[in-house]
Amino acid sequence: RIPVVIDCDPGVDDAIALLLALASPELHVRGVTLVAGNTSLANVERNAAQVLDLAGAPADLPLVPGLAGPVARIERIPDEPIHGAGGLGGLEPSATPRPSHAGHAVDWLAEQALAAPGELTLVALGPLSNVAAMLARHPQAGPAFREIVVMGGAAFVQGNVTPAAEFNFFADPEAARYVLASGLPVRVVGLDVTRAALFPLEEAERLAALPATAGVAGRLLRDFALRYQARFEVAAVPVHDALAVAAVSHPALLGWAEGEATVECAGEVTRGALVADVRRPERARRARIALSVDSAAFVRLLCERLTGYAR
Ligand code: BDR
Ligand code: CA
Repeated sequence: RIPVVIDCDPGVDDAIALLLALASPELHVRGVTLVAGNTSLANVERNAAQVLDLAGAPADLPLVPGLAGPVARIERIPDEPIHGAGGLGGLEPSATPRPSHAGHAVDWLAEQALAAPGELTLVALGPLSNVAAMLARHPQAGPAFREIVVMGGAAFVQGNVTPAAEFNFFADPEAARYVLASGLPVRVVGLDVTRAALFPLEEAERLAALPATAGVAGRLLRDFALRYQARFEVAAVPVHDALAVAAVSHPALLGWAEGEATVECAGEVTRGALVADVRRPERARRARIALSVDSAAFVRLLCERLTGYAR
Protein backbone atom coordinates (compact mmCIF):
# COMPACT_ATOMS: atom_id res chain seq x y z
CA ARG A 1 0.00 0.00 0.00
CA ILE A 2 1.21 3.48 -0.86
CA PRO A 3 1.71 5.54 2.32
CA VAL A 4 0.16 9.00 1.98
CA VAL A 5 -0.41 12.12 4.04
CA ILE A 6 -3.22 14.38 2.92
CA ASP A 7 -3.09 18.16 3.34
CA CYS A 8 -6.58 19.59 2.79
CA ASP A 9 -9.23 22.26 3.45
CA PRO A 10 -12.64 20.51 3.55
CA GLY A 11 -14.65 21.60 1.48
CA VAL A 12 -17.03 19.10 -0.14
CA ASP A 13 -14.58 17.69 -2.68
CA ASP A 14 -11.87 17.44 0.01
CA ALA A 15 -14.36 15.50 2.16
CA ILE A 16 -15.11 13.13 -0.71
CA ALA A 17 -11.37 12.82 -1.40
CA LEU A 18 -10.77 11.82 2.24
CA LEU A 19 -13.58 9.25 2.08
CA LEU A 20 -12.12 7.88 -1.15
CA ALA A 21 -8.58 7.67 0.26
CA LEU A 22 -9.73 6.00 3.46
CA ALA A 23 -11.68 3.42 1.45
CA SER A 24 -8.80 2.69 -0.94
CA PRO A 25 -6.92 -0.55 -0.21
CA GLU A 26 -4.17 0.78 -2.51
CA LEU A 27 -3.40 3.58 -0.02
CA HIS A 28 -2.38 3.82 3.61
CA VAL A 29 -3.42 7.22 5.00
CA ARG A 30 -0.85 8.08 7.69
CA GLY A 31 -2.44 11.37 8.69
CA VAL A 32 -4.37 14.43 7.58
CA THR A 33 -3.11 17.99 7.84
CA LEU A 34 -5.27 21.08 7.56
CA VAL A 35 -4.95 24.45 5.93
CA ALA A 36 -7.33 27.39 5.59
CA GLY A 37 -8.76 27.65 2.08
CA ASN A 38 -12.34 26.87 1.19
CA THR A 39 -13.21 28.13 4.65
CA SER A 40 -11.44 29.21 7.86
CA LEU A 41 -9.00 26.91 9.64
CA ALA A 42 -11.49 26.47 12.51
CA ASN A 43 -14.21 25.33 10.10
CA VAL A 44 -11.78 23.11 8.22
CA GLU A 45 -10.73 21.48 11.48
CA ARG A 46 -14.32 20.78 12.51
CA ASN A 47 -15.24 19.51 9.05
CA ALA A 48 -12.24 17.21 8.76
CA ALA A 49 -12.87 15.69 12.20
CA GLN A 50 -16.41 14.98 11.16
CA VAL A 51 -15.36 13.36 7.89
CA LEU A 52 -12.88 11.09 9.69
CA ASP A 53 -15.68 10.05 12.06
CA LEU A 54 -17.98 9.35 9.11
CA ALA A 55 -15.26 7.28 7.46
CA GLY A 56 -14.77 5.26 10.65
CA ALA A 57 -11.08 6.23 10.64
CA PRO A 58 -9.05 5.05 13.65
CA ALA A 59 -9.35 7.44 16.62
CA ASP A 60 -5.58 7.89 16.70
CA LEU A 61 -5.21 8.88 13.03
CA PRO A 62 -3.33 12.20 13.29
CA LEU A 63 -5.42 15.23 12.32
CA VAL A 64 -2.97 18.10 12.39
CA PRO A 65 -3.88 21.78 11.99
CA GLY A 66 -1.60 24.06 10.02
CA LEU A 67 -1.63 27.59 8.67
CA ALA A 68 -4.70 29.79 9.06
CA GLY A 69 -3.90 31.83 5.96
CA PRO A 70 -1.55 32.25 3.02
CA VAL A 71 2.23 32.68 3.40
CA ALA A 72 2.56 35.99 1.55
CA ARG A 73 -0.82 37.17 0.27
CA ILE A 74 -2.08 39.76 2.74
CA GLU A 75 -5.60 38.41 3.19
CA ARG A 76 -7.17 35.00 3.04
CA ILE A 77 -9.69 35.07 0.21
CA PRO A 78 -13.34 34.75 1.32
CA ASP A 79 -15.03 31.37 1.78
CA GLU A 80 -15.70 29.56 -1.48
CA PRO A 81 -19.54 29.53 -1.72
CA ILE A 82 -19.74 26.39 -3.88
CA HIS A 83 -19.11 24.34 -0.70
CA GLY A 84 -22.13 25.75 1.14
CA ALA A 85 -22.41 27.04 4.70
CA GLY A 86 -19.38 26.34 6.89
CA GLY A 87 -17.58 24.64 3.99
CA LEU A 88 -19.52 21.37 4.12
CA GLY A 89 -22.97 22.33 2.91
CA GLY A 90 -24.45 22.75 6.38
CA LEU A 91 -23.76 19.15 7.45
CA GLU A 92 -24.52 18.74 11.17
CA PRO A 93 -21.24 18.63 13.14
CA SER A 94 -20.53 15.53 15.27
CA ALA A 95 -21.64 15.82 18.90
CA THR A 96 -18.22 14.80 20.20
CA PRO A 97 -15.67 15.73 17.55
CA ARG A 98 -12.32 13.96 17.66
CA PRO A 99 -9.53 16.16 19.02
CA SER A 100 -6.82 17.54 16.76
CA HIS A 101 -3.17 16.56 17.14
CA ALA A 102 -1.16 18.87 19.39
CA GLY A 103 1.54 19.51 16.78
CA HIS A 104 1.63 21.83 13.77
CA ALA A 105 1.23 20.59 10.19
CA VAL A 106 4.37 22.38 9.03
CA ASP A 107 6.54 20.39 11.45
CA TRP A 108 4.52 17.18 11.52
CA LEU A 109 4.71 16.74 7.72
CA ALA A 110 8.49 17.11 7.80
CA GLU A 111 8.84 14.64 10.68
CA GLN A 112 6.78 12.06 8.81
CA ALA A 113 8.86 12.38 5.64
CA LEU A 114 12.16 12.23 7.51
CA ALA A 115 11.06 9.17 9.48
CA ALA A 116 10.64 7.15 6.24
CA PRO A 117 12.81 8.73 3.53
CA GLY A 118 11.63 8.07 -0.02
CA GLU A 119 8.37 6.41 1.02
CA LEU A 120 5.73 9.01 1.65
CA THR A 121 3.49 10.66 -0.93
CA LEU A 122 2.13 14.08 0.02
CA VAL A 123 -1.28 14.77 -1.49
CA ALA A 124 -2.06 18.49 -1.33
CA LEU A 125 -5.72 19.39 -1.85
CA GLY A 126 -5.84 22.99 -0.65
CA PRO A 127 -3.78 26.17 -0.94
CA LEU A 128 -0.10 25.18 -0.73
CA SER A 129 0.62 27.29 2.38
CA ASN A 130 1.54 24.37 4.68
CA VAL A 131 3.58 22.61 2.02
CA ALA A 132 5.62 25.70 1.10
CA ALA A 133 6.18 26.64 4.74
CA MET A 134 7.26 23.07 5.51
CA LEU A 135 9.78 23.07 2.62
CA ALA A 136 11.14 26.44 3.74
CA ARG A 137 11.39 25.57 7.40
CA HIS A 138 12.68 22.00 6.99
CA PRO A 139 14.77 22.03 3.80
CA GLN A 140 15.93 18.46 4.33
CA ALA A 141 12.33 17.18 4.43
CA GLY A 142 11.33 17.95 0.81
CA PRO A 143 13.66 15.42 -0.80
CA ALA A 144 12.51 12.80 1.72
CA PHE A 145 9.04 12.66 0.11
CA ARG A 146 8.51 10.13 -2.65
CA GLU A 147 6.43 12.69 -4.52
CA ILE A 148 4.00 15.55 -4.08
CA VAL A 149 0.66 15.34 -5.86
CA VAL A 150 -1.07 18.70 -6.02
CA MET A 151 -4.67 19.55 -6.90
CA GLY A 152 -4.39 23.00 -8.37
CA GLY A 153 -3.98 25.21 -11.39
CA ALA A 154 -5.53 25.46 -14.81
CA ALA A 155 -2.76 25.04 -17.36
CA PHE A 156 -4.57 25.21 -20.71
CA VAL A 157 -8.15 25.94 -19.65
CA GLN A 158 -9.79 28.88 -17.87
CA GLY A 159 -9.53 29.27 -14.13
CA ASN A 160 -12.40 29.12 -11.67
CA VAL A 161 -11.65 32.23 -9.54
CA THR A 162 -10.42 34.41 -12.38
CA PRO A 163 -10.10 33.57 -16.08
CA ALA A 164 -6.44 32.77 -15.41
CA ALA A 165 -6.36 31.25 -11.94
CA GLU A 166 -7.69 28.22 -10.13
CA PHE A 167 -8.77 28.53 -6.48
CA ASN A 168 -5.91 26.73 -4.66
CA PHE A 169 -3.20 28.56 -6.60
CA PHE A 170 -5.03 31.89 -6.42
CA ALA A 171 -5.50 31.57 -2.65
CA ASP A 172 -1.73 31.36 -2.05
CA PRO A 173 0.16 32.04 -5.30
CA GLU A 174 3.59 32.48 -3.68
CA ALA A 175 3.25 29.14 -1.91
CA ALA A 176 2.28 27.37 -5.13
CA ARG A 177 5.21 28.96 -6.96
CA TYR A 178 7.59 27.97 -4.18
CA VAL A 179 6.49 24.33 -4.30
CA LEU A 180 6.78 24.16 -8.10
CA ALA A 181 10.23 25.79 -7.96
CA SER A 182 11.46 23.28 -5.38
CA GLY A 183 12.66 20.86 -8.06
CA LEU A 184 10.96 18.02 -6.16
CA PRO A 185 8.94 15.47 -8.13
CA VAL A 186 5.53 17.12 -8.35
CA ARG A 187 2.44 15.95 -10.20
CA VAL A 188 -0.22 18.57 -10.86
CA VAL A 189 -3.89 17.63 -11.19
CA GLY A 190 -5.63 20.80 -12.30
CA LEU A 191 -8.88 21.98 -13.83
CA ASP A 192 -7.66 20.69 -17.22
CA VAL A 193 -8.63 17.22 -16.01
CA THR A 194 -10.99 17.78 -13.08
CA ARG A 195 -13.45 19.64 -15.31
CA ALA A 196 -13.18 16.81 -17.83
CA ALA A 197 -14.22 14.24 -15.21
CA LEU A 198 -17.59 15.50 -14.01
CA PHE A 199 -19.54 13.42 -11.51
CA PRO A 200 -23.20 13.14 -12.64
CA LEU A 201 -25.95 14.54 -10.40
CA GLU A 202 -27.86 11.32 -11.14
CA GLU A 203 -25.13 9.20 -9.50
CA ALA A 204 -25.05 11.57 -6.52
CA GLU A 205 -28.80 11.09 -6.11
CA ARG A 206 -28.43 7.33 -6.23
CA LEU A 207 -25.76 7.46 -3.51
CA ALA A 208 -27.88 9.88 -1.46
CA ALA A 209 -30.54 7.20 -1.12
CA LEU A 210 -28.11 4.69 0.41
CA PRO A 211 -27.80 4.14 4.17
CA ALA A 212 -25.00 5.25 6.49
CA THR A 213 -21.96 7.24 5.34
CA ALA A 214 -22.61 6.40 1.67
CA GLY A 215 -25.86 8.36 1.96
CA VAL A 216 -24.16 11.30 3.69
CA ALA A 217 -21.50 11.40 0.95
CA GLY A 218 -24.23 11.19 -1.70
CA ARG A 219 -26.16 14.08 -0.16
CA LEU A 220 -23.00 16.21 0.06
CA LEU A 221 -22.28 15.47 -3.61
CA ARG A 222 -25.90 16.04 -4.63
CA ASP A 223 -26.05 19.48 -2.98
CA PHE A 224 -22.59 20.32 -4.39
CA ALA A 225 -23.83 19.32 -7.87
CA LEU A 226 -27.02 21.37 -7.46
CA ARG A 227 -25.04 24.49 -6.50
CA TYR A 228 -22.75 23.86 -9.48
CA GLN A 229 -25.75 23.37 -11.75
CA ALA A 230 -27.27 26.67 -10.60
CA ARG A 231 -24.08 28.39 -11.69
CA PHE A 232 -23.04 26.46 -14.79
CA GLU A 233 -26.25 24.81 -16.03
CA VAL A 234 -24.80 21.31 -16.16
CA ALA A 235 -26.16 18.35 -14.18
CA ALA A 236 -22.74 17.16 -13.02
CA VAL A 237 -19.92 18.50 -10.85
CA PRO A 238 -16.11 18.30 -10.77
CA VAL A 239 -14.88 16.50 -7.63
CA HIS A 240 -11.40 18.00 -8.04
CA ASP A 241 -9.68 16.70 -4.92
CA ALA A 242 -10.97 13.15 -5.29
CA LEU A 243 -9.36 12.98 -8.73
CA ALA A 244 -6.01 13.94 -7.17
CA VAL A 245 -6.36 11.06 -4.69
CA ALA A 246 -7.24 8.73 -7.57
CA ALA A 247 -4.10 9.94 -9.35
CA VAL A 248 -2.13 8.26 -6.55
CA SER A 249 -4.14 5.06 -6.23
CA HIS A 250 -4.87 4.67 -9.97
CA PRO A 251 -2.22 6.66 -11.91
CA ALA A 252 -3.30 5.14 -15.23
CA LEU A 253 -6.57 7.11 -15.06
CA LEU A 254 -4.65 10.19 -16.16
CA GLY A 255 -2.40 11.16 -19.05
CA TRP A 256 0.60 13.36 -18.21
CA ALA A 257 2.86 15.87 -19.91
CA GLU A 258 6.26 16.78 -18.50
CA GLY A 259 7.42 20.32 -18.41
CA GLU A 260 8.45 23.37 -16.49
CA ALA A 261 5.72 24.77 -14.34
CA THR A 262 5.46 27.97 -12.38
CA VAL A 263 2.84 30.30 -10.99
CA GLU A 264 2.30 33.94 -11.91
CA CYS A 265 2.61 36.03 -8.74
CA ALA A 266 2.88 39.56 -10.10
CA GLY A 267 0.28 39.72 -12.87
CA GLU A 268 -2.39 42.34 -12.52
CA VAL A 269 -5.05 40.08 -14.01
CA THR A 270 -3.20 36.77 -14.06
CA ARG A 271 -2.07 36.45 -10.42
CA GLY A 272 -2.22 32.79 -9.38
CA ALA A 273 -2.13 31.43 -12.94
CA LEU A 274 -0.31 28.16 -13.54
CA VAL A 275 2.09 28.61 -16.44
CA ALA A 276 3.16 25.26 -17.82
CA ASP A 277 5.71 24.93 -20.59
CA VAL A 278 5.36 21.44 -22.01
CA ARG A 279 7.03 22.33 -25.31
CA ARG A 280 10.48 21.09 -24.30
CA PRO A 281 10.20 18.08 -22.01
CA GLU A 282 14.00 17.71 -21.98
CA ARG A 283 14.11 20.86 -19.86
CA ALA A 284 11.55 19.50 -17.43
CA ARG A 285 12.07 20.34 -13.78
CA ARG A 286 10.31 17.15 -12.81
CA ALA A 287 6.79 18.58 -12.90
CA ARG A 288 4.15 16.46 -14.55
CA ILE A 289 0.86 18.04 -15.53
CA ALA A 290 -2.27 15.95 -16.02
CA LEU A 291 -3.81 16.72 -19.40
CA SER A 292 -6.20 13.84 -20.07
CA VAL A 293 -8.43 11.62 -17.96
CA ASP A 294 -10.52 8.48 -18.30
CA SER A 295 -13.58 10.15 -16.89
CA ALA A 296 -15.92 7.13 -17.01
CA ALA A 297 -13.39 5.03 -15.10
CA PHE A 298 -13.00 7.74 -12.46
CA VAL A 299 -16.77 8.07 -11.94
CA ARG A 300 -17.02 4.27 -11.67
CA LEU A 301 -14.21 4.15 -9.12
CA LEU A 302 -15.70 6.91 -6.98
CA CYS A 303 -19.19 5.36 -7.07
CA GLU A 304 -17.85 1.94 -6.14
CA ARG A 305 -15.73 3.19 -3.25
CA LEU A 306 -18.44 5.46 -1.83
CA THR A 307 -21.05 2.70 -2.16
CA GLY A 308 -18.78 0.66 0.12
CA TYR A 309 -19.76 3.02 2.96
CA ALA A 310 -23.39 1.84 2.84
CA ARG A 311 -23.10 -0.27 5.99
C1 BDR B 1 -10.06 23.42 -5.61
O1 BDR B 1 -10.57 24.57 -4.90
C2 BDR B 1 -11.39 24.16 -3.86
O2 BDR B 1 -12.58 24.88 -3.85
C3 BDR B 1 -11.61 22.68 -4.01
O3 BDR B 1 -11.68 22.05 -2.73
C4 BDR B 1 -10.43 22.20 -4.78
O4 BDR B 1 -9.35 21.85 -3.94
C5 BDR B 1 -10.63 23.44 -7.01
O5 BDR B 1 -10.29 24.61 -7.67
CA1 CA C 1 -9.61 21.55 -1.57
